[in-house]
Amino acid sequence: MTDKNMIGVFDSGLGGLTVLKEFLRVLPDYDYSYLGDNARAPYGNKSDEVIYNYTGEAVDFLFKQGCELIIIACHTASAKTLRRIQQGYLLKFYPERRVLGMIAPITEAAIELSRYHRLAVIGTKATISSGVYKKELEKLRNDLEIFQQACPLLVALVEEGWAGKPEANMILKKYLRPLKVKQVDTLILGCTHYPLMIKDIRRIMGRNVKVINPAIMAAEKLVDYLKRHQEIEKKLGKNKQLVFYTTDDANKFKALGERFLGREIKEVNRAVF
Ligand code: DGL
Repeated sequence: MTDKNMIGVFDSGLGGLTVLKEFLRVLPDYDYSYLGDNARAPYGNKSDEVIYNYTGEAVDFLFKQGCELIIIACHTASAKTLRRIQQGYLLKFYPERRVLGMIAPITEAAIELSRYHRLAVIGTKATISSGVYKKELEKLRNDLEIFQQACPLLVALVEEGWAGKPEANMILKKYLRPLKVKQVDTLILGCTHYPLMIKDIRRIMGRNVKVINPAIMAAEKLVDYLKRHQEIEKKLGKNKQLVFYTTDDANKFKALGERFLGREIKEVNRAVF
């Protein structure tokens, strides 16, 4: 089977399956090819150059499989590489195809939802240190109060299946309390893994804070994007095919991935770049 005309979804590991899950909910007829770079994850603590090189290889792999459109579901990779990939690699090698990221869809949605314009963003160290959410929000409005918090321990807790455990909630409280004290009204979950903790995050932040699930926003924006870009949409396959790749162990991906995707994963292929 080739992945011709598929929508590619890339993540450093399993977290992007939370995004694919929402794509499948709102756009179930399309063909998708998911790549998790599990062998080299997490990206969140790595340097800019390493994140760029890894993401570039992953995007190139998906295009070589024939993907027409790729969504970089990883916030860290979106924050650190999207512009560079779009303006360099893509223009040079695949000018007819598209690469989209997570940041723009989420910032637009956050501004629409925020009432008092006091927003907070949580993410990996790399995402937060890039300041990209803050910059993109400020491009949309100049009267915002924006607070940021890196939460480097959360990815490991989710991967280990500790979401919901008292120890995990204790760490969550430690990260979220400073934002709560600032009386933010909207919280952006700027990482693929955080939707798996969304219930606890909502409880800790309280009912006055809107917590934005990036996966849902990205899916809504993809629907909108495909409506506006018929030249891309009409090329996409609509046979409900799902293909999975990982750079690490396929069985491990399958077992853990089903928890993130919320459905059975039939077959996983090993990707070698
Ligand atoms: N996928 C990453 C993100 O959304 C989290 C995991 C990692 O650090 O690689 O930022």
